[in-house]
Amino acid sequence: MKQADKVAVVTGGSRGIGAAIARKLADEGAQLVIVYRSNQQQAEHVVADIISRGGKAVAYAADVSQEQAVRNVLSAIATRFGRIDILINNAGIFEGRSLSEVDAEHIARVFNGNMGSMLLMTRHALPLFPEHGGRIVNLSSNLIYSPRIGTAIYAASKAAVSVLTHAYALELGPRGITVNAVAPAMTETDMTAATPPARRAAVANGTPLGRVAQPQDIADVVAFLASDDARWITGRTLLTDGGLTDAL
Ligand SMILES: NC(=O)c1ccc[n+]([C@@H]2O[C@H](COP(=O)([O-])OP(=O)(O)OC[C@H]3O[C@@H](n4cnc5c(N)ncnc54)[C@H](OP(=O)(O)O)[C@@H]3O)[C@@H](O)[C@H]2O)c1
Repeated sequence: MKQADKVAVVTGGSRGIGAAIARKLADEGAQLVIVYRSNQQQAEHVVADIISRGGKAVAYAADVSQEQAVRNVLSAIATRFGRIDILINNAGIFEGRSLSEVDAEHIARVFNGNMGSMLLMTRHALPLFPEHGGRIVNLSSNLIYSPRIGTAIYAASKAAVSVLTHAYALELGPRGITVNAVAPAMTETDMTAATPPARRAAVANGTPLGRVAQPQDIADVVAFLASDDARWITGRTLLTDGGLTDAL
């Protein structure tokens, strides 16, 4: 199996894209560590599902936008597994606001929830990567290339995720760690559940492949970047949008 015995940490693995990534990496043989914020029932459901398919998984609750919580969860992972081979910084939040509704709390919450969580996890997980290296994959967004009204702060926080991805690829390359980002367009998860049907239809119709993404569509690309097959790719943001962005 592609990822046999690798230790893979997926933040936001309790739901949506993160849950699909966790299942995919577990199917490839990795031992899964799912980190979630508060949704214990969903996290345990993903763990039970992986175990029922013959895989290995555990879940830890931690708000990865908080530095002490990040330190605590990584310390627990270090004690139990001794290392991290694959880190998927998937946890994120979306809050739509127009410019007149933006305030300092909103900016801090969205930037901490998206860029800060990725940065803190990467920084504190680093000592746990083995000498021969590993993989880091971050979740960005197609909105970094084509923001829409109301998505500016979210898009800017994801643009920061991509910039950090490219910057840390340079810094971590000599350690054998690749750092890449995946930038999905609208994907059917809880995050997009409140999207008006007309907007969803517009995205599906505007996408050359004629539909909205499912979490598995994104998870398969993340798993590729986390695999040995992607060993010569680092410092890249892979637009994973069914062709939508060029069609806009
Ligand atoms: N869905 C899309 O259309 C889309 C498009 C482009 C990019 N993305 C990005 O893809 C990633 C996954 O999105 P999704 O749609 O699957 O999201 P989702 O359905 O809203 O799930 C979010 C996941 O992240 C966890 N989480 C959020 N903040 C956290 C924190 N501070 N600490 C720990 N866990 C946290 C949640 O945990 P709980 O279950 O405990 O709440 C949940 O597991 C996000 O980074 C998102 O920005 C999504």
